[in-house]
Amino acid sequence: MYDYFRDLEKFYGILYILFLVYVVFLGVKYVKTLDYNKLYSAPGLLAADTNMRVTQPVKRGNMTPPVDVMLYSVPSPDLIAKGKDLYNTNCASCHGEAGLGNGAAGAALNPPPRNFVNPQIWKNGPTIANMYVTLQEGIPNTGMASFSNISPEDRFAIIHYVHTFNPTYPKDNPDSLKALDVRYSLATGVKAANQIPLDLAMELQVLNSDTLSHNLNEIAYQIRNSRMDSSASILRSIILNENKALHSLASNLKWNESPEEFVKFLETDPVDKGFKATVYQLSADESGKVYMYLKNLYVKNKG
Ligand code: HEC
Repeated sequence: MYDYFRDLEKFYGILYILFLVYVVFLGVKYVKTLDYNKLYSAPGLLAADTNMRVTQPVKRGNMTPPVDVMLYSVPSPDLIAKGKDLYNTNCASCHGEAGLGNGAAGAALNPPPRNFVNPQIWKNGPTIANMYVTLQEGIPNTGMASFSNISPEDRFAIIHYVHTFNPTYPKDNPDSLKALDVRYSLATGVKAANQIPLDLAMELQVLNSDTLSHNLNEIAYQIRNSRMDSSASILRSIILNENKALHSLASNLKWNESPEEFVKFLETDPVDKGFKATVYQLSADESGKVYMYLKNLYVKNKG
């Protein structure tokens, strides 16, 4: 006799398997849609509550204590030991533990990280003063970022340690150390402004509160109306979004340390900061003029 029940059993058996396959399929699809950034980012304000690109880390402004360049330019066992720790934490990933420029994180970089055992063909140069400049400014458009967050004293320590990779590093002459001192006001200490991510600041509207004590309305008024001043007109020609530009200037006053810092400020993400990409075409003379103009304006309109 034909066994209906066996057929039914088979039928449901197959249905059951198909059902399981379907469930697994749905599961896979769901997992693919999950946003891992959301799942794993710290539940801080930045990731969870706002949907913004974070452009800079939050940094509290500080006064870097004065350092005596002449004193720190002389290596001591203590400085070198400290430098070694700092080097291994901050630099070895790219430059390699032995300074050969072969760290894992640097493998894909072009240009590759410098080989510290070979103090030749360097862009800024291998002396203490040269390397200090590299650490302060980074090498633009390469993997070598600025390490200006490391205190001046610690930077000297790192440099002394790097110099142990090869005994033939050229010596600094006192004049270049003096020039370094002057360039970065090391003997007097450096005041760094508070820094918060621009997008965050704009979103949270804190820029208009008294965390920034500049009268931006007055500054905007001056820029729009100084018709006879060629610096102002150059400035107007590079502004894409006035409000953004003036806020970005006010929220990171590092630019007003020097014309070089100003150019660096302009040329890093200009559009995000409210400037046109034409900032790259400014001559040194033009950017110098705009720098002086803005510096005066911001100093005058400090509340
Ligand atoms: C993310 C990788 C990376 C890290 C981390 C890094 N560097 Fe570099 N560094 C580079 C690259 C890439 C270059 C080569 C740049 C070039 O050729 O223009 C470089 C170049 C240099 C140079 C040579 C500059 C010159 O005059 O040519 C010095 C000095 C230097 N780094 C010091 C350091 C120190 C000190 C640290 C740690 C505080 C450090 N770097 C951390 C990638 C890195």
